[in-house]
Amino acid sequence: MNNRLSTTLVILSLATIAGCRGDREDAPPREFFPDLDTQLKWTPQGGSEMFADGRTMRQPPAGAVPFGRRATTSDAPWATPWNAERDRFLKDDPAFFEGTAGRDAAGNPIFIEKLPASISVDKALLLRGQERFNIYCSVCHGYLGDGKGVVGVQYSPAAADLNNPAFLAPGAPQTKDGYIFNIIRHGKPKPDGSGGFTMPPYGHAMSEADSWAIVAYVRALQAARGAQPSSTGGSR
Ligand code: HEC
Repeated sequence: MNNRLSTTLVILSLATIAGCRGDREDAPPREFFPDLDTQLKWTPQGGSEMFADGRTMRQPPAGAVPFGRRATTSDAPWATPWNAERDRFLKDDPAFFEGTAGRDAAGNPIFIEKLPASISVDKALLLRGQERFNIYCSVCHGYLGDGKGVVGVQYSPAAADLNNPAFLAPGAPQTKDGYIFNIIRHGKPKPDGSGGFTMPPYGHAMSEADSWAIVAYVRALQAARGAQPSSTGGSR
């Protein structure tokens, strides 16, 4: 076989193996090294011949502890981190996770007035709140919370001026930290009941802890903008 013929043959056979890439093909792809591409498996709702009840899904053995949850019921000091982790997992703290202290007779949430007692308001919290506010809120509410963010001024309705005196009037829902927390996490539904939002929710984008940090920072912004030379500081 001369050189030219063998080169042509090699090219031809390579072209056959590679096929015409991008073409639609109904036949299953050729598998030269199938490895473990197809294998028997049990799907959660599928059947199984292995167990007498014919089901794949098994009941966990008695006393099994779900992932992320500790079985301790001890209040001893050594159990504190486990209990905290369990509480976070179960979200077993309405003040921290919902900003509420239960519901009133009509079933409406009672928003807590101040940040949950479990949060210490310090410089680190405010700096975190500032960073998160600048990322998530300033586009609409502006870096000062005055509603003059680049998106906010185009928005309909206009993004709220968080220092609106009506927000700070005694009894206004916006004076309650738990209310602000809920606006952050769940947004503000349109009054027409369409399911849309005037302010979109941000609960998907941040933890509860960060939402509280933002609440603390919003309070700091409000205090700063209303500050007088005689002011002695915020309410907390
Ligand atoms: C996409 C624009 C947008 C972003 C981002 C945004 N908001 Fe708003 N926000 C609005 C609009 C618009 C309103 C006014 C809603 C209304 O009047 O119904 C509003 C209202 C509010 C109110 C007043 C709610 C009330 O009931 O009066 C608070 C508090 C608030 N926003 C806080 C925040 C915080 C904190 C963030 C960041 C986590 C944030 N917003 C991010 C658009 C935005």
